Amino acid sequence: MSSTGRFWNVPLRHGQAALLAAFLAAGSLSLRAATPAETERKIDALLAKMTLQEKLGQMSQAVLRDLSDKTKEEIRQGRWGSLFGGGTPAEKAAAQRIAIRESRLGIPLIFGQDVIHGYTTTFPIPLGQSASWDPELVRQAAHIAARESSAGGIQWTFSPMMDIARDPRWGRIAEGFGEDPYVASQMAAAMVRGYQGDSLEAADSIAACAKHYVGYGATEGGRDYNTTWIPENLLRDVFLAPFQAVREAGVATYMSAFNNLNGVPASANEFTLRQVLRDEWKFDGFVVSDYTAIAELIPHGYAADAKSAAQKGIVAGVNMEMVSTTYWDNGKALIEGKQVDPKVVDQAVREILRIKFRLGLFDAKGQFSPAPAAASTADALETAKRLAAESLVLLKNQNRTLPLARSIGKVAVIGPLADSARDQLGTWAMGEPDTVRTPLAALRQALGENRVLFAPGLKNSRDNSHDGFAAAVKAARGADAVLLFLGEEASLSGEASARAYLDLPGAQEALVNEVSQAGKPVIAVVLAGRPLTFHNVAEKVNAILYAWHPGTMGGPAIANAILGDAVPSGKLPVTFPRTVGQVPIYYNHLNTGRPPADSGPEANNKFTSKYLDVSFTPEYPFGYGLSYTHFEYTSLRVSTPGMGLGGSLTISADVANTGAVEADEIVQLYTRQMTASLARPVRELKGFRRVHLKPGEKQSVEFALRGGDLAFHKGSQLVTEPGLFQVWIAPDSAAGTQGQFVVTP
Ligand code: NOJ
Repeated sequence: MSSTGRFWNVPLRHGQAALLAAFLAAGSLSLRAATPAETERKIDALLAKMTLQEKLGQMSQAVLRDLSDKTKEEIRQGRWGSLFGGGTPAEKAAAQRIAIRESRLGIPLIFGQDVIHGYTTTFPIPLGQSASWDPELVRQAAHIAARESSAGGIQWTFSPMMDIARDPRWGRIAEGFGEDPYVASQMAAAMVRGYQGDSLEAADSIAACAKHYVGYGATEGGRDYNTTWIPENLLRDVFLAPFQAVREAGVATYMSAFNNLNGVPASANEFTLRQVLRDEWKFDGFVVSDYTAIAELIPHGYAADAKSAAQKGIVAGVNMEMVSTTYWDNGKALIEGKQVDPKVVDQAVREILRIKFRLGLFDAKGQFSPAPAAASTADALETAKRLAAESLVLLKNQNRTLPLARSIGKVAVIGPLADSARDQLGTWAMGEPDTVRTPLAALRQALGENRVLFAPGLKNSRDNSHDGFAAAVKAARGADAVLLFLGEEASLSGEASARAYLDLPGAQEALVNEVSQAGKPVIAVVLAGRPLTFHNVAEKVNAILYAWHPGTMGGPAIANAILGDAVPSGKLPVTFPRTVGQVPIYYNHLNTGRPPADSGPEANNKFTSKYLDVSFTPEYPFGYGLSYTHFEYTSLRVSTPGMGLGGSLTISADVANTGAVEADEIVQLYTRQMTASLARPVRELKGFRRVHLKPGEKQSVEFALRGGDLAFHKGSQLVTEPGLFQVWIAPDSAAGTQGQFVVTP
């Protein structure tokens, strides 16, 4: 049986950890957890004893580099409420012992970390996880990450990131869930439930952090940290939606973002931090700034100096300052000068302490004892493999090139990402590259060494040298099929990794040109942190499997799909442009007064909203993904032709597996309100479901829709307006079986 936690270095079996935590949290023989009122009384008592400097200390977070004598003394003096990002588990445990036993009030630290897509076991990057459209599996993965990281002394992860991104130039698109607020909300809420478990206090739960609040993904030009302008309707309907969903899922903390939002930096934005988060959503946990984001109010041109930056951050509602020290340095002067009300500081500290109490840090969880780092358990590896498998999106499969028959003779494995453990992990990976199973290793294991001819062709994704091409072509000639592992290396996506071009970097396209001349079936497997543009390559190869950065078990997941042991079922969580010039491009856009057409008489009308030099349509639409079988969508049915504003109806359609393989299909529900007091998007995702169908099987797939599901924002107001709606049940955002219904006043 796998252990689910550790207490004083003793592995705990399933269920025991939570039980023990609850027992210790009660601090007596009672198994009862503290009531909210009891916790508030404990906080009152602490606040009454705390000096102003101790309060400002709680509001400060530093990177734990090592446990020097200076750091130890600072912890003793209550200088830090939180440490993050470094230190061994033993150092964390020692630091915590000092905080609890040697500081004046014994307030525990909270240890944070960027556990973004796994800890020991690395799952696919979040964008890849989103392509699974499987929130339950995403929840399970996050829970494993919580289990593994909590055993390493981490109590708080700076995840999930839920920034909606419509611009793949932005490198951080890898860290989020794509372009759609509904998918992102489902995924983000699932991750929060996975990290935080049923109770934050459980030994294997960690606090989640909803980031980056808010609007960061709308960065101008795709450049990281850049300015954003988002009208309130759009802010609420699209960018705030996942943040609200995780509030409803009980997220413990938020991180205020780097970007300037509509003129006011997000880390000093009273509208988003106070009005929306506190007044409207009633959030009672705490907000941490992003890294030095409070000090950055100065270069933003929003604060004249550090003192003013601190004042603006505190007043706006950022409880804890990450890395910069403006709160600590200026808090006293601000209170003495009456620029900050001491009650605001007390409230900020209360919200931090509240989460520390909820986590059980004053009790069992504070008594963390380091355990030797454990290897991934079998269930963790299995979940990583399943999630990597479900995240694979089949973009092309000419003449059923895939799957390859097991009886195939030899395969050539070519390309810079066939055996690059580090790159396969993706951005923000905590796992060790030597635990990674690469596609090359998995294919060798599945087929035997002598049936796999390996010639990388390029040393890495940016390599421009053709020196390796001859060996690659030789391998291709000697094989019955060519597997090309292309894409971008891990360092090309993630923070501060914007790209102005989205093409395959280096000489990859040239490599494809050479290798495809061998006349063998060519299958491209693309590993990347974002949608790439590879139109020319797509035309030259027979099949394309998009694998994102798939994590520890990416190799076996990809090999299984190639050899037909698993059927790809992922769907794109983001639109793939034909060229970077189409960006931003997203499915839920408005129609314009001159919508372009790609067929019919209007296709020749010059005066529509399109390009002269490239189609207006994407290379692959949002929601798209093929299978080894074929699914047919027919007979959309609406339970009643109309419903009232507060009513509900059901939409159903028949989905049939008309191919020869049993497989999963992700069935999607879209609506469009034809006319409203604000123009509505041409489609909006309202639901999805993963169904499993045998060959020849047909299923009626049904979705319930309530009037409230059709609501949108007019400024701050959430409204549902009567009118005519089109509705689709669809395999992607550009297809489907269609019907309509009416919402009556
Ligand atoms: C900056 C990043 O924007 C944020 O996502 C991360 O959590 C912090 N650094 C801490 O590493």
